[in-house]
Amino acid sequence: MAVETARKVGPVVMLGPPGAGKGTQAKKMAEHYGIPQISTGDLLREHVRRGTELGIKAKAIMERGELVPDELLYGMVADRLREPDCRPGFILDGFPRTAAQAGWLDAFLEKELFDKSEKCPPVVIQLNVDYTQLLLRLTGRRSCPTCGTIYNIHFQPPRVNELCDLDGSKLVQRNDDRQEVITGRLAAYEAQTKPLAEYYQARGRLVGLNADRDVEEIMAEIFGILDSHAAK
Ligand code: AP5
Repeated sequence: MAVETARKVGPVVMLGPPGAGKGTQAKKMAEHYGIPQISTGDLLREHVRRGTELGIKAKAIMERGELVPDELLYGMVADRLREPDCRPGFILDGFPRTAAQAGWLDAFLEKELFDKSEKCPPVVIQLNVDYTQLLLRLTGRRSCPTCGTIYNIHFQPPRVNELCDLDGSKLVQRNDDRQEVITGRLAAYEAQTKPLAEYYQARGRLVGLNADRDVEEIMAEIFGILDSHAAK
């Protein structure tokens, strides 16, 4: 039944600063609705790990906390969105991040993904969290290199220090979760991504919510938003 619900949910875009909880919530939504989470950060990190041409270009940029140039991302995102598991809907986590990317996404969805009878613009969920909380979330984040589960040493610690609850792997910290890089990432968000809220607000697609609450509470609100959207 989950996939049937997802068909009506369609594309979802998660907006919000680094550390707002986009990935945490996107994973829960993906599980609940049976649609894929597409994180451009994860896709890029995978390219870096494999040493592809894109990964080599992106690595130094990501380590500085800057945005990877738009034109490097479009092919990667288009290839992923054309995969069959995206047909019922998908959750974009970390894309779009610039006005140009938002325009590209609208054109892509219009032209390629949905025929006219099934036109379905994305629902855009903006997670709002204050700066001090973001710093704690980012510096405290750890993740499992095997299954991808995200933890936080301050807020959601694993049962056994530094080990994944699910598979026992040693948890790792992301390279860009160092204080000096975090400052750059938050600055890039303010300058390039925050204005996107206006783009989506003007099109009547933005739903903002207070994400300075418990994970489960935020999740319940998001499910309510998506269910009421699907029922329209
Ligand atoms: P990306 O991987 O997308 O990172 P980000 O946007 O900086 O977001 P994060 O993954 O840091 O945070 P999140 O909001 O997902 O939070 P999470 O759920 O993990 O991008 C990395 C880099 O790739 C960019 O800097 C850029 O270089 C490049 N890039 C990617 N996309 C790009 C694009 N479109 N264009 C150009 N460049 C691009 O949670 C964080 C922590 O908080 C966790 O520890 C979690 O456990 C905890 N937490 C979550 N929710 C709560 C809660 N409610 N209460 C308490 N703790 C919580």
